[in-house]
Amino acid sequence: MTYSVAVSGASGYAGGEILRLLANHPDIEIRTVTAHSNAGQKLSEHQPHLRSLAHLTLQETTPEILAGHDIVFLALPHGQSGQYTDALGDVPLVIDAGADHRLTSQAAWDAFYGGAFHEPWAYGVPELLVDGVKQREHLRGATRIAAPGCNASTVSLSLAPGVAAGVIDPSDIVTVLAVGPSGAGKSLKTHLLGSEILGSANPYAVGGTHRHIPEIRQALAAASGPSTSSGTVEADGIRISFTPVIVPMARGILATSTAPIAPGVSDAQIRQAWESAYGDETFVQLLPEGSVPRTADVLGANTALMGLAIDRAANRVVVVTAVDNLVKGTAGAAIQSMNIALGLAETTALSINGVAP
Ligand SMILES: NC(=O)c1ccc[n+]([C@@H]2O[C@H](COP(=O)([O-])OP(=O)(O)OC[C@H]3O[C@@H](n4cnc5c(N)ncnc54)[C@H](OP(=O)(O)O)[C@@H]3O)[C@@H](O)[C@H]2O)c1
Repeated sequence: MTYSVAVSGASGYAGGEILRLLANHPDIEIRTVTAHSNAGQKLSEHQPHLRSLAHLTLQETTPEILAGHDIVFLALPHGQSGQYTDALGDVPLVIDAGADHRLTSQAAWDAFYGGAFHEPWAYGVPELLVDGVKQREHLRGATRIAAPGCNASTVSLSLAPGVAAGVIDPSDIVTVLAVGPSGAGKSLKTHLLGSEILGSANPYAVGGTHRHIPEIRQALAAASGPSTSSGTVEADGIRISFTPVIVPMARGILATSTAPIAPGVSDAQIRQAWESAYGDETFVQLLPEGSVPRTADVLGANTALMGLAIDRAANRVVVVTAVDNLVKGTAGAAIQSMNIALGLAETTALSINGVAP
């Protein structure tokens, strides 16, 4: 069967990456692409690298134009998806790359986003531990999927094994992320001009204000649970100091996340927690002891590469994880989740290999 697809936000970074990956998907026909201020223009004016899709023209984003497809991807600024999702009831599968359907707590949405709260959808991070199983179990047959925030899924994947196994203390997590500016989208912003970021490392949203914090707390609370060794930890028991730093690389996230080692836990138990969580995974890979990843190793790949170190002097576990924010952080996660929802091979159209140098 071939599924017809519409991609909204097709002139943007996330929409463009969804299209790039879908263009190689054997079961997908990309029928419709939509945008907002650039509607009416050729897709190739905004995504000149997508040569096989150069015949497509960006249409207006309306429920009528998006309806009538088997699958609709929404890659719009947060707060914009809800107005369309309500009207797409007849579309068999809708996947939102925005934040609108990620959070289960309205209080968290109000505190970090504001505006209308929309119901949470199945979270599109298949490898995440959720109450003793993997999130992919909740994606099989799903009809509504919320793809993750790129920073949020990187940090959640980094620490979920430790939280689930009870080998780290989740009430004192510190994470610092080097992030490329594509994570902030393609629209013009002064602080993201080349002249502002080239040759500089620029921290932002310092001091607990970044919007991905509640998403990480929600994911790590779900990773603990009655059937895991740590027992359930509520989201407010997960405390995170989260500092992103924009660095001059177009795409990529390098997240260094640390947490105290739980009392009485051995080094072998710590490593075992991550090995048993990800040993069988294709797209989340734990590097051998002593190795840490670089963003250069995952560019263009749907791979999260992880290095684990145990700092006994500081009594902390240190996890360094590299992802491509536009692939494993967004479009790849969305398509991997789509494959699972449709019962297709999970890896279809996704590569574990990066582009280097
Ligand atoms: N960039 C990432 O690494 C990343 C990672 C994870 C999740 N996400 C999420 O993906 C979504 C898109 O992000 P992005 O980085 O691709 O942003 P972007 O590059 O700024 O693209 C935004 C897209 O949305 C369209 N748009 C803007 N306002 C709209 C409206 N009111 N109605 C319909 N379409 C509208 C734009 O169309 P015009 O160009 O025609 O105005 C453009 O195609 C966001 O919710 C973001 O949080 C992004």
